[in-house]
Order: sequence, then structure tokens, then C-alpha cells
Amino acid sequence: MLERFASAGAGPSLAYEHADAETLDELHDDAQSCQRCDLYRNATHLVFGEGPRSAEIVLVGEQPGDKEDQAARPFVGPAGRLLDQCLDEAGVDRDRCYVTNAVKHFKYQMRGKKRLHARPNAGEIQRCAWWLGAELELLQPKLVVALGATAVSSLLGTKVKVMRDRGHILHSSAKLDVLVTIHPSALLRIREADERERNRAAFIQDLKEIARFL
Ligand code: URA
Repeated sequence: MLERFASAGAGPSLAYEHADAETLDELHDDAQSCQRCDLYRNATHLVFGEGPRSAEIVLVGEQPGDKEDQAARPFVGPAGRLLDQCLDEAGVDRDRCYVTNAVKHFKYQMRGKKRLHARPNAGEIQRCAWWLGAELELLQPKLVVALGATAVSSLLGTKVKVMRDRGHILHSSAKLDVLVTIHPSALLRIREADERERNRAAFIQDLKEIARFL
């Protein structure tokens, strides 16, 4: 088991202005009218975090996908199903976790009639970090799990690298313990079965770190 606690040393883009909301429900209501960046213009729904108020673990993804945008719920599509399976195999009870995203609106490009995922840019991540910071301030989790580069950049800054730092718990300057790992959708993109299996096992190994905080 990896147990290296290190200081990320990078400035996270989480904002520290305080939100007026005193509960997650109030914060969710406030976020519905968010126009901090332009992504609200083309998205169907804002997708806020979900899970118990008492959650000690917060999992942070990149942004909602097509399915999440339609359902207005995080991680309900293929990546979410894979995440659920891997958490289960890592011995983590998903019902005790709060899941959210670094960016709350779906960013996409039209290809014919399909809406294809497009990566949020640094400005979009930075602006949306205000909501993530407010969620975390209300939740006060013991551990935040950064799934992939966008979440890592929002929580720990751009100096932290997923493939170099994965499996490690870094202290953010917002005084959060952040476990760095890959995004489950990276596994969905691997075509070769053995390689996919190897990477899936490594992801589960990373997620096993969570159990120590439950
Ligand atoms: N990918 C994410 O990062 N978040 C979701 O909610 C769904 C897919």
C-alpha cells in the first residue's frame, strides 16, 4: 500500500470567497443560475454533486457527460457504472461517498447529431472551482479523491501530474487530503483487453487507499 503524504506545493484554483449557502441544498439551488462561464448556455442541466451530507469521502470527476447532462445527476453513465464496480472491488461503499465534478456543466462539440465530450479549459475549471470549494467547505470530508487531470488541476494545481502522482495522497493548500488517481473513462478508452485489465487493477489499487479513511 502506498502511503506517501506529500505537499503538493501548487496553488489550487479553489476559491475562498464564502458562499452564502448554509446547506448543500441551498448551494445547489444557487448553482442553478450559474453564469460564471459560458458552459451553461449549451448544457441541458447543471449537474451538482450527490451523496450523504455526512460523507467522509468526496469523489471529484471532470464534468458531466451526455447521460449526466440529461439526467442532471453525476456519474450515471458508463464511466459512473465502471466507477461503482471498481469502488465495490476496492471495498469502498459508494453509498457513503459524495460524488461531484470539477466542472458542473457538460461541455461538448457536435459531430453530426452526436454530442461529443470536450475538455474544459483552464478558465472554466477555475471559475467552477468556486462551487467545488463551497461544496467541500460544507462537507468537510476526510479525503477527496481527484479522478483525472481536470479534478487534479482544480484541487491541487497544474504542477501535480496524474500518472506521476497517482496513488498518493497530497495535501492541498485548502488543507484537504487529496488522493490522486485516473479518471475511470480512461479505462473505457483502452481497447486492448490485457492492458485494460492491468490499468483497471491499478485503479482499484489506488481506490483501496480510501478504505483507510472510512
Ligand atoms: N465523467 C465525469 O467526470 N463525471 C461524470 O459525472 C460523468 C462522467
